Parts: sequence; structure tokens; C-alpha cells
Amino acid sequence: MMRCISVSFIPQEIYPVKTYVSEQLHKVIETLKQQQFLPEELSPQFTVERTRDKSHGDLATNLALTLAKPARSNPRQIAEKIVALLPGESAIKRVEIAGPGFINFFLDESWLAQQVKNALADPRMGVVRIQQPQTVVIDYSSPNLAKEMHVGHLRSTIIGDATARTLEFLGHRVIRQNHVGDWGTQFGMLLALMEERRQQGREISMELADLESFYREAKQRFDASPEFAVRARQLVVALQSGDETCLALWREFLAVSLSHCQKLYDRLGVSLGPDAVCGESAYNDDLPRVISDLDKAGLLTEDQGARCVFLEEFKGQDGTPLPMIVQKKDGGYLYATTDLAALRYRQNQLKAERILYFVDVRQSLHFQQLFAVARKAGFLAADTQTEHMGFGTVMGDDGKPFKTRTGGVAKLAELIDEAETRARALVAGKNPQMDTAELDEIGRVVGIASIKYADLSKNRSSDYLFSFDHMISFEGDTGPYMLYAYTRVASIFRKAGLDEKSITGEILLNEEIERELASSLIRFSEILTRVAERGTPHLLCGYLYELAASFSSFYKNCPVLGAESEPLRNSRLQLCQLTARILRQGLSLLGIGTLERM
Ligand code: ARG
Repeated sequence: MMRCISVSFIPQEIYPVKTYVSEQLHKVIETLKQQQFLPEELSPQFTVERTRDKSHGDLATNLALTLAKPARSNPRQIAEKIVALLPGESAIKRVEIAGPGFINFFLDESWLAQQVKNALADPRMGVVRIQQPQTVVIDYSSPNLAKEMHVGHLRSTIIGDATARTLEFLGHRVIRQNHVGDWGTQFGMLLALMEERRQQGREISMELADLESFYREAKQRFDASPEFAVRARQLVVALQSGDETCLALWREFLAVSLSHCQKLYDRLGVSLGPDAVCGESAYNDDLPRVISDLDKAGLLTEDQGARCVFLEEFKGQDGTPLPMIVQKKDGGYLYATTDLAALRYRQNQLKAERILYFVDVRQSLHFQQLFAVARKAGFLAADTQTEHMGFGTVMGDDGKPFKTRTGGVAKLAELIDEAETRARALVAGKNPQMDTAELDEIGRVVGIASIKYADLSKNRSSDYLFSFDHMISFEGDTGPYMLYAYTRVASIFRKAGLDEKSITGEILLNEEIERELASSLIRFSEILTRVAERGTPHLLCGYLYELAASFSSFYKNCPVLGAESEPLRNSRLQLCQLTARILRQGLSLLGIGTLERM
């Protein structure tokens, strides 16, 4: 049942071996169809997975099992047929049929070693630049500027940023769009309060220093004082009709609020700058045209005075059609109208080929409707991809949406402060000798890494538990653990006084643990491709964690500096070097900075 195949295939670049095996299997399926062993129209759903138990090889497929029915044959016989049709030249050293008909693939060590060499020689560590780059617009962060950024904005900001960096690294043209909420009725009450404060001779910039309480006060006044509410409404109308004094006040507010966001982006190491800001207000002038174009496309319906778009595919539970409202009875426009305008701008002006929205999953109906209406209205080119990359809610230990101890919405700035303080204490516990300045710096990096990694490492579609105790710890799959893992590898060279570049020679993979580390190392490219396709940085976290774990058992079991021969020592040093480089690059794509020492 064994078959030896010579190596030599797939030279030069790191080729995702899983993809390679799938491709070969697809070719085999075609041959089986030509031989009329399989029905022509069949497209079998099979998997090629990495095995948990290495005695079953590196990869395994269930293809033969899935073909049993259509081929009306027994899976083991089918497996034999498949194996006989696999090409003679490949990275696969041998193939085995196991159990009821699984096919196991064993990678060839010298092929693996060659892949590691290629990655070492490549500044991109074997990550291939994409052949057909796309222009990808990424809508992320996008807070409402009326208030201060809070914990709810963390996920969009962090997950969107990691995806943007990954797409960019693969060679795509990424355009970041921070679709801030800078328009709408809540600005009326804010302007009313600003106006009042100014009349009292108070310094506006001081008044806005704490945006959150400014907002709270404006809201209280609005609810309590009828005169204030009237003034707020007047100001909304004035603002919308382009009154210069009003606009000036509004701009002043925005400047403060935006600089507050920018400070947080800078602290968090998020690659968003002022140039990415393209808020709701930017589309004001285009909104009447959106409505008239929807009308021309025959999509508008009047419903109780409001203008709506009804589409067949959107119905409520009781079967009644669900509208997307685009203009209110009083003529005002809505979130959906602005999003239609933004989408068209991204298509026509930014020339987007793919548009990603990192927004709370609770807005999923909005995005489904948005994309469907935009397509019907001809606002999107046929092949432009639009994807809502939804994410779940940030939850507290009590199983409810995360709140501060006093029950309020957690301000992002305060959460970051707390993370930094706690991280500093954690590091100080480990290094009582360290001086204050260094502790501050390390505490900062570890604190930010903790928050970011905790969020990034969870599948974005589920709710996520925000817990300082879990995230700021060296135990388990955490930011501090990953940073520590990196410093440990990086320090090998420093401690031995070695220059990384001076180490050369063959890669030797005699030990099982070395083999495993090598096969982790060559998967980097494949993982990044998947993150870019699905907007799922948790896959990269999972990979880096696994790499760190695999390195850790290698380091425990295989002496590096004390290796029994010079060639073995050099081989192992090179494995260390590639591990360090991939960890650093991987963390950097997650937006996480590394430390050389901690
Ligand atoms: N400002 C919105 C909010 O806080 C998110 C905007 C997301 N982007 C978009 N194009 N709708 O809920």
C-alpha cells in the first residue's frame, strides 16, 4: 500500500502544500470521470486536512470515502485507484491508505528542507506577492464622533486593521475608509450646548476635553429643557442647510473629536490616519442624486410618506416585505442613503474591486439590503465583491455586554490605561531589577499587545469575552505569551553573540520535532492568503501560536548551541532564525509590535 515518489517538483517558491495536494486530487477526479468511473456532473466535496497525529502523515484526505456512493464502489478500492493516478513527481514522499479509506500523505524531508532554505533566502519569508492585485476598500473603525470611542469600537478597529495590513503585504492596493458618523440629529444638541458655553464666555476646547460628559450634558439638557430642545432642532436645520456659523461650530467639534480618535489610533498602533477619514457628511451633496437614481431604476416605493426600496428577498418572519428606508417623511436622509452614496463613491471614484465592511454583526440585515439594492440599482460593477465582515459583541465576565465597574460604557482610553498599568505590573513581577523607564516602555507594548491579541485571536463572528485577567497573562494563547516567545527566539543569537546572516549550511531534519517545526514554518504564506480571503486574523493568531508551541518543544528537545556537530548547530540556528522572522512579521501584520527583551 506504500508508494515511493521521488522529489524535485515545486522548486523556488514556497508552494502551499495543501493546495498542491488538492489540485492533484482534482486532476485525479477528472481522470476518473474520463474513465467513466465517476459520473461527469459530479463535484465531490472532500477535505484535505493536516493530520493531528504525525504517524498518519502530514496531510490526509477523505476523498475516497466521499466517492464511495457515486462510484458505487468500496472506499479502499477507490483509494487505491486514486493513489495509482497521483503524479510520480512531488513533494510527497509516500502515500498510505488507512482505516476505511483515508489517504495519508507524508512530506519529503529534503523537499521540506529546501522550502525552509527558500524562505530563509527571501525577505518575504516565502510569502508570494499576489499575481493579480485588487483594489480593496476597507471600511473599519468608523466611530460616531458625537461621543468618545468606547469598547464597542475596538473590534472593528483592530480586526479591520490586521486584515488591511495582511492584504497590503500580499500586494493588494488597500484603501482605508474611516466612515465616521459626523452628521445627523445628535449634532444639534451638541452645537446648542457649544453655543451656550461660548455665550457664557467659556473656552470651548476646555469644554470638549471630556467629550463623553459633554455629550451626556447635552443630552440631559435636551431632555429636560424645551427651549434647549427647540434650539437644538433649529441648529440641525441650519446645519443641514449649510449655515456658515453653524458649520464652523460643527467643524470645531469634529476637529476635537477626530483628534481624540487619532490619539487612540496612535496609542494602539492602528494604521489609520486623517487621510482615511471619509465620514457620512462627505456624501451630503450626493444624497438627492441617490434618491433620483433609485427612482429612475424603478426601485422607489412610497410608504406612509417615507421613500423605501422593497426587494423580494427581504421579508419579515410573518412574510411582510421589509423596506430599506432611504428618505423620511420630512425629507431627511438616513444611514442607508449615506451608505448607498458611499458605496457608489468607492466603486466609481476609488475604483474598488472588493469592498469590506468591518461592522457589528447586528447590522447584517442593513448590509444585505445595501448590497442587494446597490446591485439592482447598478451602483456596483458586476464583478465587484462586497462583504460584511461582521463581528460579535464584547462581553463582560457577567455574561452581559461589557460595562465598567460603575456600570457605564467603557471608554477606550481608560481601558488602554488599565491594560498598560496591569501589563507593567506583570512584567515588573518577572523582572524586579528592571529600571522604571524600561518598565514603562515594555508595559506599554505588552498592554497594547494584550488587548489586541485577545480580540484578534477569537473568531470574529462570535461574541467575545473581555477579561483583563485572561489577556494579561503569560499563560496560554495571549499577547504576552506571544511576545515572550518571540524574545526567547530572538535572544538566542544575541546571547551567543552571533550574527544571523553569518549562519549558512544545509537544513537537516532528522528529528520528528525538527520536521514538525519546518512544516509549520512553510505554512505562513498559505495562512496569510486565507486571512486575506476571509477577513479572519484569528487564523494568523492560531498559526503563530502553534508555531511558537512547536518552537518551544523543538527548543526543549533539540540542543541548538550545544548541538553535536557544526552542521547540525547551523541548521538549528537557521530554524531559530526563520521562526523569529515569521513571528515578528506575523505579529506586525496583526498590528502588534515586538520587543527584543522583556
Ligand atoms: N458609525 C457606525 C456605527 O458606529 C458604523 C459605520 C460602519 N460603516 C458603514 N459604512 N456603515 O454603528
